Amino acid sequence: MSWVTELARADIVALRVYEHAAWRPELQRLHANELPWDPSGRDAREGLNRYPQPQPRALLERLAELYGVSPASVLLGRGSDEAIDLLCRAFCRAGMDAALVCPPTFGMYSVSARIQGAAVIEVPLLAEHGFALDEQQVLERCTARTKLLFLCSPNNPTGNLLEPETMEEIAALARKGLYVVSDEIYHGLVYESKEHSILEFTDHAFVINGFSKLYAMTGWRLGYLIAPPEFVRPIQKMQQNLFISANDFVQWAGIAALEEASEEVEAMVRTYDQRRRFLLPRLREIGLGVAVEPHGAFYILANARRFSDDSYSLAMDILEKARVAVTPGIDFGSNAEGFIRFSYANDLKQLEKGVQRLADYLSRLQG
Ligand SMILES: Cc1ncc(COP(=O)(O)O)c(C=O)c1O
Repeated sequence: MSWVTELARADIVALRVYEHAAWRPELQRLHANELPWDPSGRDAREGLNRYPQPQPRALLERLAELYGVSPASVLLGRGSDEAIDLLCRAFCRAGMDAALVCPPTFGMYSVSARIQGAAVIEVPLLAEHGFALDEQQVLERCTARTKLLFLCSPNNPTGNLLEPETMEEIAALARKGLYVVSDEIYHGLVYESKEHSILEFTDHAFVINGFSKLYAMTGWRLGYLIAPPEFVRPIQKMQQNLFISANDFVQWAGIAALEEASEEVEAMVRTYDQRRRFLLPRLREIGLGVAVEPHGAFYILANARRFSDDSYSLAMDILEKARVAVTPGIDFGSNAEGFIRFSYANDLKQLEKGVQRLADYLSRLQG
């Protein structure tokens, strides 16, 4: 345990975990802090008046199987945002440690690190290199204080995937003192390409994943962390003290999704690909630039610099004048300024309507 203590914050390792007697059915319970009545109603499921079992074995086993790891490596929680936050809390001491992020990317990595009081070091993905990651830059920007390196593939907002060679190089950088956190929440939403997990290259890494994207269960709030088993317990101690767990019925929904939704997921992926194939050429036709074709997630990050260098004002103007909602690139990092993110998580008719409105707006802007 001593090297875990060295890496994860000692004060966190020392916390005690909440264990509920309800999870040991042989006990006589004279301590309950829940109401003894089950919820009434025809559809009520037994046990919803109790605190849930936070890490239900059945779900852990299924998730472990997906990654070929032991259930002892899985920590279930309320969405992958929670896992990002817990990692920052566990590893980053305020004012001392740092997290490395690669913008443009999902904003929660730096937000969580900053809330924790950690420094955020950026390795920008450059537009002129198709927003690809330069592993040399990662090496150069790492300091002795850098604890976590956040990667996201397929990436939000670019839809790009990391090359397996790059992942291999990055895995070689992972060492005692620096952990790679691979956000794999868009795994499965990949078109004409293949995604790779960081665990194919190293087990010195954390994986973040969840049900929000592949199973379209965003509102249920269910996600998980795959961690080297020594870290699961210290992180779980924080999680249980703070949040207890994912809701009971949400855990059942997670099992149902894994067991029953594969056909729907396959159909959804085919539908996303059709939308991607529609949107990509249309965006280019109306004057936006997409240098590298995205093969994952459901986003296209398009260059709008010939119309404006200020993506926030442009997005607001598009909203007000064209009645189309898009996301400004600046939200994902200063190096995506002048870019606009489009999501094709909407049906084809809406996409056609939205792009037509945008085309009219942009031609008025030019004329
Ligand atoms: C890359 C990435 N990671 C994590 C999340 C958050 O997912 P969850 O709903 O599981 O908290 C998002 C949400 O958009 C995302 O884009």
